[in-house]
Formats: sequence, C-alpha cells, structure tokens
Amino acid sequence: MKFRFLLGAIVLPLLTLPTFAQAELLPGDAREGRELAREVCSACHRVEKEERGVSPVGAPAFQDVADDPAVTETALQVFFRVPHESMPDLILTPTETDDAIAYILGLR
Ligand code: HEC
Repeated sequence: MKFRFLLGAIVLPLLTLPTFAQAELLPGDAREGRELAREVCSACHRVEKEERGVSPVGAPAFQDVADDPAVTETALQVFFRVPHESMPDLILTPTETDDAIAYILGLR
C-alpha cells in the first residue's frame, strides 16, 4: 500500500516530467520557426521533418540536429548568439531564435 503510493506520487511524475518540461519551457513558436526555416534556412539546410544529411554547402539537416542528444535549447541559444561562421549576415532576432529552436527541437 505504502509502496504503491510512493510509485504513484513520486516515481510516475518524475518519469513524465522531462517531456513536459521540454515542451512547455520552450518560449518560441514552432510554426513561426518552420516559416523562417523554409524561407531563410532552407537555402542551405534541409529543414523538413525526416530530411537528413549534410547539404552541399556543409550544413547539417535540422532533423539530424534534433536527433543529436547533445543538442539542447541552451546549446542552440549559445550557437545563435553569434552569427554563422559561414554566413556573417545571418543574425536572428531573439524571437526568431526562440522560434527556430522550438521548430528544430520540435522535430524530435
Ligand atoms: C548560407 C547557408 C546557411 C544558411 C542560410 C543557414 N545556415 Fe545554418 N549552417 C550552415 C553551415 C554551413 C553550417 C555548419 C557550419 C557552421 O556551424 O557554421 C550551419 C550550422 C547550423 C547549425 C549547427 C548545427 C550543429 O549541430 O552544429 C544550426 C543549428 C543552424 N545552422 C541553424 C540555422 C538556422 C535556424 C538557419 C535559418 C535561420 C540557418 N542555419 C541558415 C549554413 C547555413
């Protein structure tokens, strides 16, 4: 009886927490991010879900970025704080950054 209570009250919420936390803590709008990806990023990246591989200009597919467990929201925030090495003109606003991150991580 006591064990069942523990399982329900503590263990189960802990198991489900990470997925919820990730979905809810992301401030961006994944739909806006998808528009941005299609309009801007697709010049170099494969941006659609399930599209994989490195493009001819050396840009990794967003699905592959999403599939890398080392890629977190924080890692992407840091990445977008500086312009792409390969394209100095690509500077995203904070909102665009959040949206792009929500889209990319939403491919998981
Ligand atoms: C002119 C081509 C070009 C455009 C446009 C472009 N990228 Fe990139 N991107 C690259 C290249 C090349 C790399 C790999 C080298 C590097 O990190 O600079 C890269 C790397 C990245 C990475 C890092 C992936 C990793 O795991 O290291 C992310 C994330 C990314 N781009 C997101 C975006 C987003 C979001 C946009 C649109 C707002 C965008 N890129 C537009 C060329 C581009």
